[in-house]
Amino acid sequence: MHQSNYHLLIILTITLFHILQPSSSLKIGETCSTSSNNCDSGLRCGTCPASGNTRPRCVRVQPFTPTSKVNGLPFNRYTWLTTHNSFAVSGTKSPTGSPVLGPANQEDDVASQLKNGVRGLMLDMYDFNNDIWLCHSFGGKCYNITAYQPAINVLREIQKFLQANPSEIITIFIEDYVTSPRGLTKVFDAAGLTKYMFPVSRMPKNGSDWPTITDMVKQNQRLLVFTSKSSKEASEGIAYEWTYVVENQYGNEGQIAGSCPSRSESSPMNTTTRSLVLQNYFSTNPNVTGACIDNSAPIIAMMNTCQIAAGNRWPNYIAVDFYQRSDGGGAAEAVDQANGHLTCGCPNVAYCGVNGTCNTPLLSPPPPAQLSPGGSSRSSQGFSVHEVVGLQWFLGVLLSTLVLLLL
Ligand SMILES: *[C@@H]1O[C@H](CO)[C@@H](O)[C@H](O)[C@H]1NC(C)=O
Ligand SMILES: *[C@@H]1O[C@H](CO)[C@@H](O)[C@H](O)[C@H]1NC(C)=O
Ligand SMILES: *[C@@H]1O[C@H](CO)[C@@H](O)[C@H](O)[C@H]1NC(C)=O
Ligand SMILES: *[C@@H]1O[C@H](CO)[C@@H](O)[C@H](O)[C@H]1NC(C)=O
Ligand SMILES: *[C@@H]1O[C@H](CO)[C@@H](O)[C@H](O)[C@H]1NC(C)=O
Repeated sequence: MHQSNYHLLIILTITLFHILQPSSSLKIGETCSTSSNNCDSGLRCGTCPASGNTRPRCVRVQPFTPTSKVNGLPFNRYTWLTTHNSFAVSGTKSPTGSPVLGPANQEDDVASQLKNGVRGLMLDMYDFNNDIWLCHSFGGKCYNITAYQPAINVLREIQKFLQANPSEIITIFIEDYVTSPRGLTKVFDAAGLTKYMFPVSRMPKNGSDWPTITDMVKQNQRLLVFTSKSSKEASEGIAYEWTYVVENQYGNEGQIAGSCPSRSESSPMNTTTRSLVLQNYFSTNPNVTGACIDNSAPIIAMMNTCQIAAGNRWPNYIAVDFYQRSDGGGAAEAVDQANGHLTCGCPNVAYCGVNGTCNTPLLSPPPPAQLSPGGSSRSSQGFSVHEVVGLQWFLGVLLSTLVLLLL
């Protein structure tokens, strides 16, 4: 090879290094930068100081899309990530001009949640200012200081998402304080959501399977709406939640390890005439610093407890506060595990193989939780697969360059 070719090669190599470095994204567990989220898509750079994890690392935000592995099963054979008080986003200023009092439960708005794979939304609806509002209130009444926003704003975001994503299915759980005549019907109509609503007449009432998601998508019945008010089923055709769903206790009482009692409105967890199971896992007072612990090993332990309590049924909804916070796999990991059990019988939906086999990967040991005293390296040992792949790609490019130069 000529001298000049060598120079060219060196220049190319250096250039390639510079191109490769910033564009490389990071996998789960790798050390990242909180200022420039340089994690892979679906991940977020975060710490969990409450459990001693101070090294910023990529944690899961988005669950695996279960239908990309196993499609066409009955709706109750899937699990969906659900946000508790989805509308109670930190930093919200009420359109009434008043600051919203009380702690938030989430950190991004519903549009962003939907992008991140959230498919269950818990919305508290009230009569307020001659309209229906999303409030986090008390005594069944909404006030300026508890009024987050008119419900139509969020319902329109849901409408936009359903329109843009014709095979996605969303569930809304309404904590219903609306007493105005046909108040819910009017606001769902105004948001353009009525045409997507799954009809109550097709919801199984005796514990049988739901229609398949393929059927729901084909019929464009892709919005499930449940209300906490039984009268609305007869008056407005909106499903009374407790006829179709069992739920465990929410709040601190629902976080006592080893027990999974039902919430008071729900039939016992093992009532199999209710085809859908919802697992709540969040503290009574929203705790943004504690959520990364809750949304990690404890939520999965509780999922296993609740699975037994529910008559060996995995949850169809997993509802959390601060869904993006975790100490690794997060609520998304709980959802993936439940989806694995429900759809293909593997311990994680990511492992579903062909004809009922599971492709369970060999995991390397996790990297240390603390920052190393020497500062942060770009990535740490233990999650080396990504590095190897990067190197292979780089060598491939180098080789092709060499071949080109020699020709
Ligand atoms: C609530 O906000 C409205 C403005 O939207 C204001 O006119 C009204 O006085 C406020 N009510 C109270 C009790 O502060
Ligand atoms: C349960 O209800 C479904 C309709 O929701 C019906 O098709 C089925 O026959 C019922 N099964 C039993 C055992 O009653
Ligand atoms: C359901 O669980 C209750 C306890 O909550 C238990 O007493 C009952 O026997 C269970 N029923 C079935 C059918 O397993
Ligand atoms: C929030 O969670 C942290 C970590 O678990 C805990 O130390 C703290 O006491 C909790 N705060 C409240 C108000 O419960
Ligand atoms: C899966 O099962 C089908 C039908 O039993 C068979 O035709 C196919 O070859 C199987 N695929 C694999 C990869 O085993």
